[in-house]
Amino acid sequence: MDIVRIFDTTLRDGEQSPGCSMTVPEKVRMARQLESLGVDVIEGGFPIASRGDLEGMRAVAREIRGCTVAALARSRRDDIDAALDALSGAAHPRLHTFLATSDLHLHHKLRMTREEALDSISTNVRYARERCAEVEFSAEDAIRSDIDFLCEAVSWAVRAGATIINLPDTVGYAVPEEYAAMFHRVIEYLDGADGITLSAHCHDDLGLAVANSLAAVRAGARQLELTINGIGERAGNAALEEVAVLLRVRQATLGVTTNIHLDKLYATSRLLTEITGVPVAPNKAVVGANAFAHEAGIHQDGILKNPLTYEIISPEAVGVPKRQLVLGKHSGRNALRAALVEIGYAPTPEELDECYQRVSALADKSKHIHNRDLLTIAHQVLRKRGTPSAVAAE
Ligand code: KIV
Ligand code: ZN
Repeated sequence: MDIVRIFDTTLRDGEQSPGCSMTVPEKVRMARQLESLGVDVIEGGFPIASRGDLEGMRAVAREIRGCTVAALARSRRDDIDAALDALSGAAHPRLHTFLATSDLHLHHKLRMTREEALDSISTNVRYARERCAEVEFSAEDAIRSDIDFLCEAVSWAVRAGATIINLPDTVGYAVPEEYAAMFHRVIEYLDGADGITLSAHCHDDLGLAVANSLAAVRAGARQLELTINGIGERAGNAALEEVAVLLRVRQATLGVTTNIHLDKLYATSRLLTEITGVPVAPNKAVVGANAFAHEAGIHQDGILKNPLTYEIISPEAVGVPKRQLVLGKHSGRNALRAALVEIGYAPTPEELDECYQRVSALADKSKHIHNRDLLTIAHQVLRKRGTPSAVAAE
């Protein structure tokens, strides 16, 4: 089965999101966790950007031995030199250089002609390749670039020595069919792109980053650039945990796999939250607090009979400690019985009925039923039996 390589950019693109900057020791801690998660590449930073970025990148490069470490550089010699310096201690270094290829960026941001862009790509990719065994070239804003010029630009990068070509949707503008079509065109232009790894890098401005990453894989991309919890510029990047689970759950249909150890996803997400202090939305797929919580009575009943009824992957498979049957105004008797048994009560059908009425009444007034509420209700109802054996496991 084909492997899709996972390029994690939590420490670079992710760190660019507001409130997510990390100190050097925090970056190293996160990088170790990413290595044990099984990512293939860790992008550790953008060394020219600041002293801190350079130091962080150096420390990550020295620490990580089990996977590739990438450093980002614009298509400029001073950037590339800073990145090479930061990578000097790496076991498996990759120089990642980029230049925008859309007319919008070339004209308004870089004030460059297309010819100057081609020259810059050729000169700087060659310069990087002479000093680093592995070079990735990213055509920034690829999706809004003129497709013929994009093809030409990436072929110049390939001729200059880049073996990984990344086609980013820098502004999260693409729809999946369009993103896939761009990959098809580039692969065709490169005569099948033998020996070249095509890479996707999607931002989430329209909420399509994961869908676009999937479209790219179906069109032939074999590297995906992702971040933990989907952090990144503006609306963020495609979330690593979502893509990894997607590729595993739908493996039979997609025919590809990754090297990610799914059972480490939750711990990795939690570590990032702990380091940055930026919380994950409760309804976030895979790692959100409600991702494996069930409140509706019909769902709870199904889950208790067979978890597959309402779960496409088990919480344990992604390292979430336990599924939650949430007691609230939508929950049912079976979930309530399970919760009571869990806290040591074995209600008769009548007692369960009375507990249920009380829980429902409370749930109408308050958003959450806490364990202490359940304990109080159970104690009041089961105490009526008049024997201490009311409190016992079944
Ligand atoms: O979004 C983007 O285009 C990038 C590149 C630098 C890869 O982050
Ligand atoms: Zn980006």
